[in-house]
Amino acid sequence: MHIWKTCLAVLAIGWAASVGNVGRAAQKGKPVIREAFGNAAGTPVEVFTLTNARGVEIRAMTYGAIITSIRVPDRKGVMADVALGFDALQGYLGQHPYFGAVVGRYGNRIGNARFSLNGTTYKLAANNGPNHLHGGVRGFDKYVWAAEPMSGGTGVAFTRVSADGEEGYPGRLQVRVSYVLTDANELEIEYQATTDKATPVNLTQHTYFNLAGQGAGTILDHDVMINADRFTPVGESLIPSGVLAPVDGTPMDFRKPMKVGARIDASTEQIKFGRGYDHNWVLNRTGDGLQLAARVVEPVSGRTLEVSTTEPGVQFYTGNFLDGTVRGKGGVAYPRRSGLCLETQHFPDSPNQPSFPTTILQPGSTYRSKTVWRFGVQ
Ligand code: GLA
Repeated sequence: MHIWKTCLAVLAIGWAASVGNVGRAAQKGKPVIREAFGNAAGTPVEVFTLTNARGVEIRAMTYGAIITSIRVPDRKGVMADVALGFDALQGYLGQHPYFGAVVGRYGNRIGNARFSLNGTTYKLAANNGPNHLHGGVRGFDKYVWAAEPMSGGTGVAFTRVSADGEEGYPGRLQVRVSYVLTDANELEIEYQATTDKATPVNLTQHTYFNLAGQGAGTILDHDVMINADRFTPVGESLIPSGVLAPVDGTPMDFRKPMKVGARIDASTEQIKFGRGYDHNWVLNRTGDGLQLAARVVEPVSGRTLEVSTTEPGVQFYTGNFLDGTVRGKGGVAYPRRSGLCLETQHFPDSPNQPSFPTTILQPGSTYRSKTVWRFGVQ
């Protein structure tokens, strides 16, 4: 890596915005920092650092539009990085389970790696047993995106064009994902896409959170609330049956905050199929705006995370496939269940499930989705 080549572009945008506000706010977020972050198969990768007025710092890079770190305070003000991942690009180029990545064109599974649309059957890569997972062999998480810092805020926007036929999907898809860090310690994630042929689209963010920080063990003591009366039960290969089942009386009931570990090894079929939690919840919602999806509390540090979304569902995945073999930041191992994901999304296998909300984007329409992560303490 040519460190000497590293270019550090401090952008004036943040400063310009702050000038008009002098006197109104004592602190301001810092300008977005843009730096070189190595090369992926010869293509230069950049990392963007977003810092708000309260010192919260989020970094994201052009490879996979991956969020590489999230530094937030605990109740005493001590900062920790609450996202699993690696210190350098190299780790992300190797085998890892979608740490921090934007997944697409279709986040989650498509049964038997195929779907029919307007009379044509499209075959996708079967990269998860018989099924298609997270966009295929080379999903959106494995491309270098274009990126620009955003004017008028602490943010970065990533764009890429997914070619017609990429991983078997129809249509040339133009995608934009933006991350904006607010002074209220929120990360606003917005997705947009347009296509020239009808295609399924389901974009999500696959960050693994451990609100206790790096090397802190499992997430089994985190308390989780999921705002959902129903979930989509799955078969053995984690494809939904199509039924929306009540969570009432099952280990899937997170309507009141529950320890992740309290029922994670229950002897129910759903828990066995998921090897823990790896399911989609049907969010309770009124209207189609931002709705609270989930709340996470780590009792020792006091750190909290609230997830709101415009999406109808959230995949709650408890890192059941982590096994300690991946060495993450600072060389720490990530054992089983040491991170949790809250992947806001449409339901899995929607292209084959006529009763689920559609994921088909038509030419002339724009796919829009928004999710907000709000970090706090209690
Ligand atoms: C998802 C899936 C899991 C697993 C992880 C990545 O969230 O639902 O089954 O594949 O991604 O390891």
